[in-house]
Amino acid sequence: MRLSAHDSLKLSQRYLDLVAGKALSQSEMQQFIEETVEAYERHVNRGFLTYRKSVTESGQFAALEWSGSGCMLRDGLGREYIDCLGGYGIFSAGINHPRIVKAVTDQVQRMALNSQELLEPWRAALARLLAAVTPGELSCSFFINNGTDAIEGAIKLARLHTGRRVFLSTLGGFHGKSLGALSLMGKATFREPFATGLQDVRFVPFGDGEALEAEFAKAQTIGSPFAAFVVEPVQGEAGAVVPPPGYLRTARELCTRYGTLLVADEVQTGLGRTGAMWGVDHDGVQPDVMCLGKSLGGGVMPLSAFVSTPTIWECLVPNPVIHSTTFGGNPLACVAGIAAIHVTLEEDLPAQAAQKGEFLTRELRRLQTRYPGVLNEIRGRGLLLGLEFPSDEIGYRFAAGLFRRGVLVAGTYSKARTVRIEPALGIPTEKISEVLNRIDDTLKEIATSLRVAQLAAAQPA
Ligand SMILES: Cc1ncc(COP(=O)(O)O)c(C=O)c1O
Repeated sequence: MRLSAHDSLKLSQRYLDLVAGKALSQSEMQQFIEETVEAYERHVNRGFLTYRKSVTESGQFAALEWSGSGCMLRDGLGREYIDCLGGYGIFSAGINHPRIVKAVTDQVQRMALNSQELLEPWRAALARLLAAVTPGELSCSFFINNGTDAIEGAIKLARLHTGRRVFLSTLGGFHGKSLGALSLMGKATFREPFATGLQDVRFVPFGDGEALEAEFAKAQTIGSPFAAFVVEPVQGEAGAVVPPPGYLRTARELCTRYGTLLVADEVQTGLGRTGAMWGVDHDGVQPDVMCLGKSLGGGVMPLSAFVSTPTIWECLVPNPVIHSTTFGGNPLACVAGIAAIHVTLEEDLPAQAAQKGEFLTRELRRLQTRYPGVLNEIRGRGLLLGLEFPSDEIGYRFAAGLFRRGVLVAGTYSKARTVRIEPALGIPTEKISEVLNRIDDTLKEIATSLRVAQLAAAQPA
């Protein structure tokens, strides 16, 4: 309902006071929580309030995310959670890392966004820094604000560079959810090079080099070779699925042989998450295009990028605004990116992810043997881990049980029986041990309830 300007002003002032840190009593906070629930119901999407998430299942769906630092989150009522979800991979450097917050705070006081007309120094600086830390000849970057847009850019780049329009992707791959604003573009210069809208895409099983080779050969035979093969070095949303060693090398070799661009979607795996700086480093491969996102903004700003080689970038040079976006490469996001890379190197987050991931995986496997029939599988690399439960129901109960015990994890979007663990890469070992204790407790509770249910089912009626 539209309010008068006076009432709208009062409402926005109230929100601004809260943002500024106005203290609330427990009952005022309770009231604010109720208002937030109502606003979700009426103005966001009431589906979120019943959508099965750990918070809903644990009966605490009205927990408001309020503050956090490192690997800890606090809700509006002051309850603490060890964050093992990491915002689906954005908090690799931890929540509100002081060096990253400082860089953004320094920049926001000088100039938050850009005029679009002058040269943007931090965009250039971040591009230069990325050239220094990405594999081989990758050295040209375009910045945007989310992983989906990084993939969109990579698709357009591959079409422009190869002149082809058929793409190859993998079963279970996740690359974003956009639908194609460019199809509505009323100016042919920008629309026509990418005409026919959505891409023609073929899918191959992930991790299967032979199937990949057969698909490339088939495409060549029918005369529709691929513009690009888009692949995650470890499938994140599919539940931390690791391909066999050498798979990306096979992909590299096939892409080179058939003139197809190898696009590594490192949106989730990049910046140390898998225990190496980049997911492709495990196979020693240089992709033609790398898509980055999530942790690139240091968990402080939204930031993503697609990065490629000078040769491939040449197709963007004649008309540098053939691809453009208002907020892409803005100074706040770029200084966050510079600080995120700095922190990743300074704290050697890739090595921390490798070492802590190994410890966590080993201990989880120990727990798995103690609760057969409850936890089926532990997968992943570094601190991108997936736990596989026998059913969605048990996956929900596990995530909810942990939430009640003050640990945040979540099922993947597509399968609640697959639960992800993606904490800050620098999570202290004592916190991991604490998480393991709470996982043990949760698994025990589930195992007991399953046994009780089995006994009840075995009783004669
Ligand atoms: C591998 C991968 N690519 C792309 C995306 C899309 O990123 P965003 O949600 O930031 O648009 C995601 C998001 O989870 C992802 O995991």
